[in-house]
Amino acid sequence: MDWHLIGDISDIPLRGARCVKTPQGRIAVFRTAEDEVFATDDRCPHKGGPLSQGIVHGKAVTCPLHNWVISLETGKALGADEGEVRTIPLRNDNGRLFIALETLMTVAAE
Ligand code: FES
Repeated sequence: MDWHLIGDISDIPLRGARCVKTPQGRIAVFRTAEDEVFATDDRCPHKGGPLSQGIVHGKAVTCPLHNWVISLETGKALGADEGEVRTIPLRNDNGRLFIALETLMTVAAE
């Protein structure tokens, strides 16, 4: 797996997110109140809203457009809504964050 450094955990506000531009598109990187980090495509499964601008609560994010709640662990919409955003492998190495872009290319080629 090919890990790419995208920054430091301190670049992301607690209960916030940041958008990272990659050759495979925009990736949203989230940081929870418990200092866990997750990455997904920055595209809501409903109508493509920017999840990186949503509200992070627990291990989920609420989309800023129509309030779908998306699990950061599975990428799946919670509650009555149905849909799924792609999750991206993310490694936290003493605060330095890496995402697996090779995996992205593999997934995109499928
Ligand atoms: S685009 Fe995210 S809830 Fe509609």
